[in-house]
Amino acid sequence: MAMSDTRDAQPLLQLSDYAIRFATPDGTVKAVNGLDIAVARGETLAVVGESGSGKSQTFNGVFGLLAGNAKTDGKALFEGRDLLSLSPRELDGIRGADMAMVFQDPMTALNPAMKIRRQLSETLTIHRGMIRREAEAEALAMLKKVGIPEAERRIDQYPHELSGGMRQRIVIAMALLCRPKLIVADEPTTALDVTIQAQILDLFRDLSEDFGTALVLITHDLGVVAGIADRVVVMYAGRVVEEAGVDALFERPAMPYTAALIRSIPRVDREVEAVEPIPGRPPDLIHPPTGCPFHPRCRFAEDKCRRERPPLAEVEPGRRAACWFPFVDAGPNHGERAGTPETLNG
Ligand SMILES: Nc1ncnc2c1ncn2[C@@H]1O[C@H](COP(=O)(O)OP(=O)(O)OP(=O)(O)O)[C@@H](O)[C@H]1O
Ligand SMILES: [Mg+2]
Repeated sequence: MAMSDTRDAQPLLQLSDYAIRFATPDGTVKAVNGLDIAVARGETLAVVGESGSGKSQTFNGVFGLLAGNAKTDGKALFEGRDLLSLSPRELDGIRGADMAMVFQDPMTALNPAMKIRRQLSETLTIHRGMIRREAEAEALAMLKKVGIPEAERRIDQYPHELSGGMRQRIVIAMALLCRPKLIVADEPTTALDVTIQAQILDLFRDLSEDFGTALVLITHDLGVVAGIADRVVVMYAGRVVEEAGVDALFERPAMPYTAALIRSIPRVDREVEAVEPIPGRPPDLIHPPTGCPFHPRCRFAEDKCRRERPPLAEVEPGRRAACWFPFVDAGPNHGERAGTPETLNG
């Protein structure tokens, strides 16, 4: 790890050997397995992976929002306090004040029967102990900061009178009002059309800079992280399979799964035909594959990959990957690894 790295300091959030299992009639769903993820103060971390890879449940668990059939293990330290061992009341004190979550559907956070003015100012009177006038002034100022046009008029509207993009801005404003140290945004732009998506992502980037808030951006779309994230964590079958700075990840992915994700991004500068969906399907989490969880879909898999699960290990300074053959699929020459060409189609 780099010497000057600020990650040497205590992270804001540290998940260690963190696991989530769901009991179901068909068996135990091993949704999140032995996860180690650190979020530094002020950084923007993207968490990416296909549907079902465990992105949402990982952070739902951090916020105490798991379904009743869930069981967690390991540690989730926020500023050194283990969130998994707090009482619901203690967790409530941290949630909303020190850390906030933004979901795909802004209506999950908004009360449809309440005007924006009251929704925003109540956050401040409750969490920051402000008097009403003070709270309303701050709410209005925040609406302007998140780019709501005609904020003076909008503040007296109900959520249903606003567009989806505007509602999401309101939710972001609400999250920021308490000056949280961490915002977790779970697919915050997935429901929005492409132009609005870009605007909301820009907003996140500007705001996390202005407020020094750490941001965890959960997305199944690796295409959106390039302009906003500092670091990327790639999840597969409830595990971290790669972790890298955003530029390094795109330039030279270590894990064949990451390379496949990158090739599956539709890009304006490429023909539609150049987009390659990842072949195969995500694994069954009740009966996960032996060895590397990606091996059944990996065209570079060898016997070792089928037998032994690769640990998440440093593959370059500051980069980790869980792969026995890191960088095998990294460059323009991928598929040309010397020595064992006969195994490439195995
Ligand atoms: N209450 C539950 N009972 C059983 N399995 C569950 C439960 N909740 C989630 N899961 C399973 O946990 C796994 C991880 O789900 P999660 O929601 O974290 O995926 P995700 O990466 O966020 O996917 P997406 O991109 O679709 O949102 C999935 O296989 C899901 O089916
Ligand atoms: Mg999800």
